[in-house]
Amino acid sequence: MRNPGKNLSVTANNIRMSYSDEGPAEAPVIIFIHGFPFMKEMWRTQADALTDVYRVITYDVRGHGHTEIGDAEFTIDLFVGDLFGLMNTLHIQNAVLCGLSMGGYIALRAMEDHAEHFDALILSDTQCVGDSPEAKEKRRKAIENIKEHGVVKYADESVKHLFAPSSFDTKKESVDAVKAMITHTSTQTLINTLQALATRKETCSGLGNISVPTLVMVGKEDVITPVTAAEFLKEHIKDSSLHIVQQAGHLPNLENTEDFNFQLKLFLHRFAKPPVISNPILVD
Ligand code: MLT
Repeated sequence: MRNPGKNLSVTANNIRMSYSDEGPAEAPVIIFIHGFPFMKEMWRTQADALTDVYRVITYDVRGHGHTEIGDAEFTIDLFVGDLFGLMNTLHIQNAVLCGLSMGGYIALRAMEDHAEHFDALILSDTQCVGDSPEAKEKRRKAIENIKEHGVVKYADESVKHLFAPSSFDTKKESVDAVKAMITHTSTQTLINTLQALATRKETCSGLGNISVPTLVMVGKEDVITPVTAAEFLKEHIKDSSLHIVQQAGHLPNLENTEDFNFQLKLFLHRFAKPPVISNPILVD
């Protein structure tokens, strides 16, 4: 039986996973996967904008937010196993998948493994390449810095690259919220996930097999997964479109929520069923 609500927990793939399950039971399901090192609350405004018509699932990736870290070695494949574990436990056969950055890496791997479970994809600020030797070296240095200087310093450094310059003036609340998400993350999760990101496999060679409708979005000023990475996805996924979000860096859903949500709704429109009106207005 479904148990809707916010901040619920369930055992899946041998860990307690924290998730929210909102919206009508019979509505099309959308699963949102957050980036590194954030948590499901980064999707709050998207969930609030969609729950009248969609069943929206947001969850904390292993070790993040309120989901347990478990004993297994962190890999993107493990995160994909967690996603399918959650879907099985919640009896979700099919869903639209929306992933931002690391969430996109997980979504693209999930598509390679079991595309039949997904009706559409939204890929935001993500890429299909694996880490270059330089990127791997940066992750190694980040791990050293976290061990030496702690999580607060890591959070201060990270936000500098996550947002468009203008967002530091116009979106102070989001900048603070993201900093808080990073500092909430345990040192062990940061280290384990940085290692998982560094060792992830490319998913570019599988893009040609993606046949579901796909919306690619990217912040115009994203310096982590830039517009060129989004253009590559658009060029190689058959039924895809690209939208570049103005006044946004790596987190367009927070930096230009209005545009992000508008595009999201426009894209999702085709999967929507009309909302159930319990008290119809009678006209004579
Ligand atoms: C993210 O936002 O998930 C990260 O920037 C991904 C990465 O570092 O590759």
